[in-house]
Amino acid sequence: FDAVDVIRTKRDRGVLADDQIDWVIDAYTRGVVADEQMAALAMAIFLNGMNRHEIARWANAMIESGERMDFSSLPRPTADKHSTGGVGDKITLPLAPLVAAFGVAVPQLSGRGLGHTGGTLDKMESIPGWQANISNEQMYRQLGSGSGAIICAAGSGLAPADKKLYALRDITSTVECIPLIATSIMSKKIAEGTGSLVLDVKVGSGAFMKDIDNARELAHTMVDLGTDAGVKTVALLSDMSVPLGLTIGNALEVRESVEVLAGGGPADVVELTVALAREMLAAAGQPDADPEAALKDGRAMDKWREMVREQGGDPDAPLPVADHQKDVVAEASGVLTDMDALKLGVASWRLGAGRARKEDPVQAGAGIELFARPGDRVEKGQKLLTLHTETPERFERAEESLEGTLTIDPNAQPSTPGSVVLERIG
Ligand code: URA
Repeated sequence: FDAVDVIRTKRDRGVLADDQIDWVIDAYTRGVVADEQMAALAMAIFLNGMNRHEIARWANAMIESGERMDFSSLPRPTADKHSTGGVGDKITLPLAPLVAAFGVAVPQLSGRGLGHTGGTLDKMESIPGWQANISNEQMYRQLGSGSGAIICAAGSGLAPADKKLYALRDITSTVECIPLIATSIMSKKIAEGTGSLVLDVKVGSGAFMKDIDNARELAHTMVDLGTDAGVKTVALLSDMSVPLGLTIGNALEVRESVEVLAGGGPADVVELTVALAREMLAAAGQPDADPEAALKDGRAMDKWREMVREQGGDPDAPLPVADHQKDVVAEASGVLTDMDALKLGVASWRLGAGRARKEDPVQAGAGIELFARPGDRVEKGQKLLTLHTETPERFERAEESLEGTLTIDPNAQPSTPGSVVLERIG
């Protein structure tokens, strides 16, 4: 085989043969196909797409590039959730212990943030003492005979082809491509060996998929890949045009997650957590379970505390708070009509909550608190946001990225937000 032939096939809108796909993924993982060749192929796929058969073969080749885990020997059923990524998306934190409270094992192999979307591991690491890197033995113990929930770093052995390819796509503007996103996510999830999977596919400015038709196609593609691989898979489409909840940033999002686990928290975070929990519990054989009750009566909170302790964290330790805060106030009276998720995500990232390069550190306390939502009536001078950072020279650039959002219409009528869950697919 020759990488140039494979690239030419896709460049000329041809269909890749099974053995071309198997070879190119394997050779790229081994370093025989160069980064610049894979970059050209990724761009050809971005522009010309792949059919359903090519997508399935591509995903399979990525799975075969590494090891497979197997949770089938655990004494509990497993259920997993994956989000395509958004702003203020802290749902994994309350969701994993909530579902584990019903005796279901929840392996959440998570990543770090890059760009404007946060990473679950960065959030959890703001809890003093908490460790993301744990051995496979501890993982099986925690899932099988411990709390049943785990949030940890994915080992380097799962779908190594995706690790290389994702980093390459990130720097060649080939991320927002349905076949490449679907195979990237599903190869990792299938290799991880979960029995069932619920996908949270985000739609809106803060998501990879800006409109609902693309989000639907991505969801269908992933549900088909999972189902064909024997994983019970469903997807919820959820709104990401505004941030989820009232906090963006690592420690701030942990604080809000703990509020949800204590039976409170913002309505949209609770709605999505409960909707995803119901799907996971139904897939694990408990269609009648009542996750809302487990948030109210402390069962989910007990699991959270147990899970945090199992990984060295202190659930009672105060969370880090940034040294510098600045309020953003309403410039007029009226109804807030816009609070763009992407712009707020970029602002939080610039305050220090995210990283520009994957080796950069993040600030645990940095981020944004929201005090109003689109549709709310606000008065001139009223606080809309508080910006948090350790490095006050960052306020200016963060405020620049907020320009054009936080629009106030003096003539509009207040409205209540709709449901955050838009559709179910599967
Ligand atoms: N998340 C992934 O893991 N892969 C993608 O391609 C996009 C989001």
